[in-house]
Amino acid sequence: MKKVRAAAFASGTGSNFQAIMEAEGLPIEVVLLVCDKPGAGVLEKAERFGVNASVFEPKSYESKSAYEQELIAELNGAGVEWIFLAGYMRIVGPDLLGAFEGRIINIHPSLLPAFPGKDAIGQAYQAGVDTTGVTVHFIDEGIDTGPIIAQEPVAVFPGDTEQQVKERIQQVEHRLYPQVIRQLLKETTYEDKTK
Ligand code: GAR
Repeated sequence: MKKVRAAAFASGTGSNFQAIMEAEGLPIEVVLLVCDKPGAGVLEKAERFGVNASVFEPKSYESKSAYEQELIAELNGAGVEWIFLAGYMRIVGPDLLGAFEGRIINIHPSLLPAFPGKDAIGQAYQAGVDTTGVTVHFIDEGIDTGPIIAQEPVAVFPGDTEQQVKERIQQVEHRLYPQVIRQLLKETTYEDKTK
């Protein structure tokens, strides 16, 4: 099977990036990590996995469009076909969405449409729900909106601390994201007939 050239986008510690890198037999080659937070923990992980990292400071651009045009040039230069958002805490604008239409997916730690945006785990915990979960979805121009590909519920037990809920959610994220990527690309890639 031909491997899809992929980029991961992350702003934080990168545990989902790590889960993708460590998953067995994924039909992707992660050729680039895009990070919008200089010093983020994910950068050290990229180095460990030998993945080229591009660090951006979006605020230093005159507009979101200018930032994304530079991103697009970088992604095209690396031959990137698909983008996996893994804790990228920024709304993707029309430039990047248009350039990679239908080929950007995101993971979010709630059962969307419940608790979009930042600190979804804290939001759910504060709301006192007995079930939250994980969603993997195609992105659109909204905040954690777009067609849902997969969801998995996660229980919140009486007496749980927020940290316990977070750990339970992360375990699901690290299994579900690679699983969805594998399934999705199996459906959309083709056999390389030249080999
Ligand atoms: C993950 O829980 C991911 O679902 C969430 O950020 C965290 C990143 O953790 N994403 C969002 O909230 C997107 N709105 P990580 O850096 O350890 O992968």
